[in-house]
Amino acid sequence: MTDSPTSNRKDDRLWGGRFEREPDKAFDAFQRSFSFDRRLLPYELAVDRAWARALQKVGILTEVEVHDTIKALEAIASELDDDPTFLDGSTAEDVHHFVESALVHDLGALGWKLHTGRSRNELVATDFRLFVMDAAASLQQQITKFLTVILEQANANFGLPMAGMTHMQHAQPILLSHFLLAHVEAFSRDVTRLQHAAESADACPMGSGALAGNSFGIDREGIARDLGFSRITANSLDAVGDRDFALDYLFALSGIATHLSRLAEDFVIFASQEFAYVILPDEYATGSSLMPQKKNPDSWELIRGKTGRIHGALLGLLTTMKGLPTSYQRDLQEDKEALFAAHDQIAAMLAIATGAVATTKFNGDRLRAAASNPVLFATEGADYLVHRGLPFRQAHDIIGKVLREAERQNKPWTQLSLEDVQKISPLFEKDFLSGLNVEKAIATKSVPGGTAADSVKLAIAALQERINMLHSSLQSRLQVKSGSEAQTSEAKLKVKTQTGE
Ligand code: ARG
Repeated sequence: MTDSPTSNRKDDRLWGGRFEREPDKAFDAFQRSFSFDRRLLPYELAVDRAWARALQKVGILTEVEVHDTIKALEAIASELDDDPTFLDGSTAEDVHHFVESALVHDLGALGWKLHTGRSRNELVATDFRLFVMDAAASLQQQITKFLTVILEQANANFGLPMAGMTHMQHAQPILLSHFLLAHVEAFSRDVTRLQHAAESADACPMGSGALAGNSFGIDREGIARDLGFSRITANSLDAVGDRDFALDYLFALSGIATHLSRLAEDFVIFASQEFAYVILPDEYATGSSLMPQKKNPDSWELIRGKTGRIHGALLGLLTTMKGLPTSYQRDLQEDKEALFAAHDQIAAMLAIATGAVATTKFNGDRLRAAASNPVLFATEGADYLVHRGLPFRQAHDIIGKVLREAERQNKPWTQLSLEDVQKISPLFEKDFLSGLNVEKAIATKSVPGGTAADSVKLAIAALQERINMLHSSLQSRLQVKSGSEAQTSEAKLKVKTQTGE
């Protein structure tokens, strides 16, 4: 293509025939989607190639026509790969219009043949499904890297205790690694949700037409296979109006955002002077224009803050969908911008979180000091009495009285004398007070999933194994895909659409 093949002339539109007058200028701009759906161009081109081959099978295109059409489509693809800025000059209405205009510019009337028996309604649904499948795989890969970094911190700081909290009150000592693994668990559920969204997108609508199906006997299964889908959609009316896969994807993104936001909240609190559990890396903090001493956890605050727009994207699309009649409605055009933006934001949030976790230093002295506060062993005290046959509720009550006595004497309860505690219960023996320490409190939690060192070691090994498996399954999926140029071109296009052009 030498220059832009598109223009605003009526005869260049995909639908001008029955109209007498040009659309209102403001409305025309209002209804266009090329500024954002151009991001789907690599997928559109892949679908076009598959469609051309399918049209040949049913005798609509000759072998030569298919050859020429595919060559022209590939020329667009390679121009896209070289430098997507050539799209900037286009006045196409949408990505589908763009390709048709380019084909006509290149091939003359043959360019108009490709749209035989098909509709933009099924095209946009197909392109968008392919996008979601790739997007889900790329975030799965990013999360795998993130989890590896968290596990590295869990390994590097293994054995360091911290004060576990509920209600933001010191509760029981745990291992820092156990705390980190809690976050790993949450993010591994996100990997599963992304998988679910990809599976939900993995059905090919092509052959659904505008709403009713295809009258040329097109080979739907063949097109689906060609494009890497594992199945076809079941009902043409549903296929053009269904965006559940996009909602599933936005739900998965909302889950990631929620988990990142909770992790961010932990780190913001831990970086405060009151806690001082973590030392913020310079690379992921900022200063104050006024107060020279400040080092603020902006990386985590922004991650927490951006969660709002991710949830907003999910709620926005849910609201768009809720009143739609069956089949395609133009409202559905509103599905893309927010999803693209949410995807890009999550990718950025994960990248920053990965860097910030990797470079964060944990303040061992502060963590250990907080974990060693004797109030954290109160439950151990009650358990001691349970081991001597006392019902737990009574044991709880007795330790409560011991704590009250310590408060009266104004000293840590582990420093009470044996006589003092024996006055409260004769079940206390010599070994009692000396046996209360942070190591022991942690070591007793040796059930699977507990915070004892051996349990945490097993958990790390199990998670590492899961991450390795996920990594290799993603690698093989990406290898299968490497034949499709859609992915690499999509990555380049993203840069443009991110800015909302
Ligand atoms: N730009 C439209 C969208 O994103 C493509 C389908 C247009 N179909 C139509 N009948 N106007 O949904």
